[in-house]
Amino acid sequence: MRVAVLEMHGQGDFTDTRLDNAKQFPVAAKAHFGHVRHSPDMVTAKLPALQFYQLSLPAPTAPPGSFDPAAASRGQALLAGRASCISCHQAPRFTEGGWNMHTGAEIGIDNFQADRSPDHRYRTTPLRGIGAARMKGGFYHDGRYATLNDVVAHYNATLKLGLTPADRNDLVQYLKSL
Ligand code: HEC
Repeated sequence: MRVAVLEMHGQGDFTDTRLDNAKQFPVAAKAHFGHVRHSPDMVTAKLPALQFYQLSLPAPTAPPGSFDPAAASRGQALLAGRASCISCHQAPRFTEGGWNMHTGAEIGIDNFQADRSPDHRYRTTPLRGIGAARMKGGFYHDGRYATLNDVVAHYNATLKLGLTPADRNDLVQYLKSL
């Protein structure tokens, strides 16, 4: 709704009182972006079909040979066990159902981009299809980690996981298989 009305300038109703916070959102608060009304509302009725379509899209599967299956199965056990990734990345979508938002401190990064959003948080990225479709452009919201190895090394350091290089490789192989 926000994208349709505020960003694409569709003719529809949109409410988000968090945008009334003039300190965080001076432009939006002044323009009353959190209280947009149009008559007739031409957006709301179109959203259910759009959501069904989005949910119907299968995540791309990793091509055979793009990961090591034995290492990936060890990595699966690590993700749910010693590496504790599962506290945030839960199957089947590898994010949390519900409010999947975290502070920078929880994942060991700065809060710069999070502070531009109403909740001051980052969203747990769903990891399905990562090996098949998302290996370019870097990881995390700003692409700060060039490779999955870098992401896992970051978690290892910041969450003090004590993973060996072999463990880290197993995790990366599992991520590539998702
Ligand atoms: C406290 C919650 C939390 C834990 C624990 C956690 N993650 Fe994350 N993960 C996040 C959040 C939040 C992001 C999004 C960060 C961003 O966009 O800057 C993320 C992003 C990622 C990404 C980047 C995805 C992309 O497409 O950019 C990968 C890969 C990842 N996590 C893997 C892991 C692995 C492997 C572990 C365990 C070693 C783990 N995560 C533990 C919350 C968590």
